[in-house]
Amino acid sequence: MTSPSQLTLRRPDDWHVHLRDGTMLELAVADTARQFARAICMPNLVPPVTTRAAALSYRQRIQAACPAGLDFTPLLTAYLTDAIDPQEVAAGYEEGVFAACKLYPAGATTNSDAGVTDVRNIDAVLESMQEIGMPLLVHGEVVNPEVDVFDREAVFIETVLEPLLSRFPGLKVVLEHITTRDAVNFVTAAPVNVAATITAHHLHIDRNALFDGGLRPHAYCLPVAKRRGHREALRHAAVSGNPKFFLGTDSAPHPRSAKESACGCAGIYTAPVALESYAEVFEEEGRLERLEAFASEYGPRFYGLALNAGSVTLERTVQTVPEVVENAGQSVVPFKAGQELRWRLRQRA
Ligand code: NCD
Ligand code: ZN
Repeated sequence: MTSPSQLTLRRPDDWHVHLRDGTMLELAVADTARQFARAICMPNLVPPVTTRAAALSYRQRIQAACPAGLDFTPLLTAYLTDAIDPQEVAAGYEEGVFAACKLYPAGATTNSDAGVTDVRNIDAVLESMQEIGMPLLVHGEVVNPEVDVFDREAVFIETVLEPLLSRFPGLKVVLEHITTRDAVNFVTAAPVNVAATITAHHLHIDRNALFDGGLRPHAYCLPVAKRRGHREALRHAAVSGNPKFFLGTDSAPHPRSAKESACGCAGIYTAPVALESYAEVFEEEGRLERLEAFASEYGPRFYGLALNAGSVTLERTVQTVPEVVENAGQSVVPFKAGQELRWRLRQRA
């Protein structure tokens, strides 16, 4: 089958991104706004976004950091803590300040120290979210150091998520950045109120990328990439046409020095080449025609939002990804740095 020389899609959204704050914000917002119309912005800032006031102020900083001429809408999330006020969360959703809540098990990942220590502590919030239809976005890994890091997602599904869904069967849940066959099977079998996001990097790399000729900090993220067979299950889910699986990059920039360190941070910066990276996978799987629904339709339908107007065009032109991207004194090594991608997003006029 010959490939088309270009591919036009309805404008897509990113249903899971880290835009950061301070000096990193400009770079992260610009790279995401060039690719996506809207994005679910993760609240794991320091301090975390737990109130309407904090979210409104973050939204303004994001908008101020967005380059002129790019039409981009940030969707904010509330960071769940053991002590968060259910009324603050519900009011934020009803006023359109919060699009969802994010559950980080305390200690699971970057800036998750203020996260939830036991999901039973937030049952009151979950109850009210179920009632008003507010989505719960889940970082699905247990933090028990006794559990092998490659098993933490599967163990979370069994020991935390399944019991949570039996307590709140009507709660809208997105299992974020899934990395295992176990997660694919769980979400596929679950009712329609349970969905998942899939990152571009987990479709491209398996755990071998972490050790390819030496230790590779830029391939390290959480949940960590698993065996090849899990990656294959993710690829099949992404291209399956099942609306429960949609695009969420989990693009998570860290300064180069924080990645290339004796204790490197978790996070892969995919925003500069996100759509191109997904397009490669859909093309390799012979399912390019399904990219549009995955990138631009299933996410908004799950969240109950309108589809975007307008379109973006990908050209089938080889691009070499820069070794590093820089702004305001910050250097970040992007996903696929120095490598070639077969597609390039045409920049909007
Ligand atoms: C994210 C970050 O750096 O904020 N890191 C990551 O590896 N994905 C946090 C997260 O989503 O786990
Ligand atoms: Zn994330």
